[in-house]
Amino acid sequence: MKLAVIYDSKTGNTKMAAEWITEGMGEVADVEAKAFFIDSVDEDFVKESKGVVVGSPSYAALMTPDIHSWMMNNGGKLGFGGKLGGAFATEQYTHGGGDVVIQSILTMEMVNGMLCYSGGGSCGSPCIHLGPVAVNSNLEKHNDMEKYKENFKIFGKRFAAKAVEVM
Ligand SMILES: Cc1cc2nc3c(=O)[nH]c(=O)nc-3n(C[C@H](O)[C@H](O)[C@H](O)COP(=O)(O)O)c2cc1C
Repeated sequence: MKLAVIYDSKTGNTKMAAEWITEGMGEVADVEAKAFFIDSVDEDFVKESKGVVVGSPSYAALMTPDIHSWMMNNGGKLGFGGKLGGAFATEQYTHGGGDVVIQSILTMEMVNGMLCYSGGGSCGSPCIHLGPVAVNSNLEKHNDMEKYKENFKIFGKRFAAKAVEVM
């Protein structure tokens, strides 16, 4: 089963998080997971994917304008409707809007007809509420990102296991 992770990223944090999610997805048998920056998406791979996870840095506590318009322009075209959907975010501050970013991505996914999944409390600890968020207070240096690696991998693994179960 193919699964895609699509992200925007200017300074590399969200890219790193996307790759950790695909790493976790790849731990599930028979899953082929790939991450794509919004400017270089393999459209055939995404169309064939049973699940798509979308991620964005927090910009003024919102998803970036670029990923918003990417989703507006491509969600329908790439057949998001009926796929399993998930979301993640990176931010600079603890209260920097990561959850709001995730909620708005999930809203767009649902508008497209996706079935959204976070794992949430049903998966036990760590309880990933709406989706994983990394707080990188060191900006481009990425120093804080490693702390979140395991959470992103676990999210990816849970998402892939659910996709294999239900899709
Ligand atoms: C224009 C701009 C706006 C930002 N706004 C926020 C914000 O509202 N809250 C926050 O916590 N971080 C904010 N940040 C920081 C980024 O969300 C954070 O550094 C993120 O990890 C960058 O992701 P990237 O490395 O994938 O580009 C902003 C950064 C930029 C460049």
